[in-house]
Amino acid sequence: MIALFVDKIRFFDTTLRDGEQTPGVSLKPSQKVEIATMLAELGVSTIEAGSAAASEGEREALRLIAGAGLSAEIATFVRALPLDIDYAADCGADCVHLVVPVSDLHIGAKLRKSREQVCEMAWNAVEYAKERGLVVELSGEDASRADPDYLAGLFRGGVERGADRLCFCDTVGILTPEQVASVIPGLLFAPLSIHCHDDLGMAMTNTLAALKAGASAAHVTVNGLGERAGNTPIEELVMALEVLYGVQTGIRTDGLYHVATAVSKMTGVPLPLNKAIVGEMAFTHESGIHAHGVLRNASTYEPIRPEQVGRTRRILLGKHSGTASVQAALHELGYVCDEGQIAEIVARVKAIGDEGRRVTDADLMAVADSVLDLV
Ligand code: KIV
Ligand code: ZN
Repeated sequence: MIALFVDKIRFFDTTLRDGEQTPGVSLKPSQKVEIATMLAELGVSTIEAGSAAASEGEREALRLIAGAGLSAEIATFVRALPLDIDYAADCGADCVHLVVPVSDLHIGAKLRKSREQVCEMAWNAVEYAKERGLVVELSGEDASRADPDYLAGLFRGGVERGADRLCFCDTVGILTPEQVASVIPGLLFAPLSIHCHDDLGMAMTNTLAALKAGASAAHVTVNGLGERAGNTPIEELVMALEVLYGVQTGIRTDGLYHVATAVSKMTGVPLPLNKAIVGEMAFTHESGIHAHGVLRNASTYEPIRPEQVGRTRRILLGKHSGTASVQAALHELGYVCDEGQIAEIVARVKAIGDEGRRVTDADLMAVADSVLDLV
């Protein structure tokens, strides 16, 4: 069991902000509302609906989502600028995700300001957002390359001025679980979120490490969408927490696949075939040994039941298939065969597979008809 600092983990979903920053992705306001509605139904705590300052379309989406009466907090990304905060408040957001760069690299290269100036900007913006009645999640961009003492000072000052929550961003995905364990405990001046990127394939691992080290919220996206290699995928994190660590996440896991496919369709970003939980092959078996095992007892080769995430199991036929899966497929198609006939059908199925082809139901029926002399 994972030892968590909180009874309940908050899921801050940023599919509609960081996820939409996936190169080439652009959602219409109506699509954003559709996705936000699905996310609220899944049970996420916060939906980051976009960046209110970015465009009129973004503001329209935010207004629509904020006015939709969803059972989630609605947030928008803002810079430490009164204009951005005004947009957020005027569009009806509950919360601002107030982001300032905190590494010297980002402070110098992007803002051309000093550390002190960034503190001033951040703290003034926190006060301004609180005056406008907004929940404030104060985020340190590129926190993993920041001086930890500077970051702690900035965060402490932000909380003193009213920030409700804090967020540590691993902007370029370079954290290790060891660093997470050493840095996170020194930043718990308020409930802390972790925002990880997957540039080195470490987003999930680092997110889990942060939840163990004291963070109480995880920033996630559907299908791991996000800048470059993306963010921590909600479907993977939720299932890992539930299955491996015994955490009751409060997320309706049987809705995960539906949301994943809907988001993939709307964003135009295909799901990799072998993606955990939501990829086409995640609950598909071909090899004879595996299919035989699964047909007898699914736990042999499935760590979770497909129904838990709103899916069904598939057995594919091909050159790796064995008697059990061919027999099961024939049974489903209504064929009754004796042992010799099944052996012949299996041999022909393997021959089709050896040609580099997948065996469809139509192929199997043609083979069975021919072996049973039904043609
Ligand atoms: O990765 C990141 O640092 C971000 C911030 C802008 C919040 O997405
Ligand atoms: Zn990000």
